[in-house]
Amino acid sequence: MNLAEENPAKRFAAQSAVEQVRHGMVIGLGSRSTAEIAIRILGEKVKGGFQIVGVPTSHESEELARSLGIQVSTLAEHPQLDLTIDGADEVELDSLDLIKGRGGALLREKIVASSSRELLIVVDEGKVVDRLGARGELPVEVVSFAWQSTALRLERLGWKPVLRLTAEEIPYLTDGGHYILDCSFDTKSSLQSRAVELHNIVGVVEHGMFLGMATEVHVGGSTRARILQRSTTINRGPRTR
Ligand code: A5P
Repeated sequence: MNLAEENPAKRFAAQSAVEQVRHGMVIGLGSRSTAEIAIRILGEKVKGGFQIVGVPTSHESEELARSLGIQVSTLAEHPQLDLTIDGADEVELDSLDLIKGRGGALLREKIVASSSRELLIVVDEGKVVDRLGARGELPVEVVSFAWQSTALRLERLGWKPVLRLTAEEIPYLTDGGHYILDCSFDTKSSLQSRAVELHNIVGVVEHGMFLGMATEVHVGGSTRARILQRSTTINRGPRTR
């Protein structure tokens, strides 16, 4: 059984988002399991003659796209993308603000998303929350040099940073060669001001709050996907062809 068969909710979300991809588009390819399903669906369409160019957000997505015959490019060649399809760790219901980066790809994901006219997020229902921070920490990507002093600066501002480790208990290294500090925080504080605060800390490269960036969120359930937009919700059933 493959990933899509094991996760019908993720598959419905991915299918729903892929329906918005048009022949000839240049699109950002997200990272981790739900985005991977979307890339696989795009790969099937490409085999049938559909043409797209994909700009991946991680080495993993790049390898997958290439293996499926999707033409891969870079932001250097295509600085303006038509849309990006990516997953998320939390989606705030009213605002469609996101937490991303628990899969470790937040910096490239944010650069690619910022270069896209539209950001389509694909998640299952379990990712939708009333308030960001409900399901865990905020990933903060930091320069590895003297990361302890960056962590100290975060602590002084009320964050509770923990260095992310691999299964082998060594620091997790991002595709950009940085470390990640997973930071718990007071979820009642203003996220906008906390995001500005993080960008002012020396040693912080980027954080996983994606505020005001998502155009639509495709939320997969057990039988269909629903699409959350800023002011409306569209229901879309499974594809019939
Ligand atoms: C990667 O860094 C994250 O931003 C992912 O988008 C996130 O972890 C979603 O992963 P899944 O689709 O596997 O839940």
